[in-house]
Amino acid sequence: MLKKKILKSLNEQINAEMFSSYLYLSMEAYFQSISLKGFAAWMRVQAQEEMMHGMKFYDFVNERGGKVTLEAIAKPETTWATPLAAFEAVLKHEEHVTSLINNLVDLAISEKDHASNNFLQWFVAEQVEEEASANEVVEKLKLIQDNPSGLFMVDAELGKRVFTMPAATAA
Ligand code: FEO
Repeated sequence: MLKKKILKSLNEQINAEMFSSYLYLSMEAYFQSISLKGFAAWMRVQAQEEMMHGMKFYDFVNERGGKVTLEAIAKPETTWATPLAAFEAVLKHEEHVTSLINNLVDLAISEKDHASNNFLQWFVAEQVEEEASANEVVEKLKLIQDNPSGLFMVDAELGKRVFTMPAATAA
């Protein structure tokens, strides 16, 4: 059985992951609006991954006999000044999510909830990847600056990303 404090924080994390999905869908819409289809496709995959993250928390709460409580999802921003500004916002957001996951781990440890701590370790590793992949794009965009052919090359590369459901959560 989940302790009250942990249940509350896990429910908050479901909301945070769903917001992340919403934010990246909003970024997809931004990239669609400026005809960068590869960037848009990357954001669609990112949004799908975030939904999967939220569902991992959702399933875990149920598995532990807790009650999932869904709250309203905040309105994301809808536009960014440049593709670089959007990816800097991705990186900043992922750093924020990392801090949320770290706080959850701290709580699981202080409450001696080993099962939650074990579950959260998947997210600890995932956040390393999330920050690294956002940072990689930020660095590329800084390098090419306003060079259109560089931008189209990055667009083509980002468009190759595909969503794959991790084995542990595949139906
Ligand atoms: Fe679910 Fe991008 O962290």
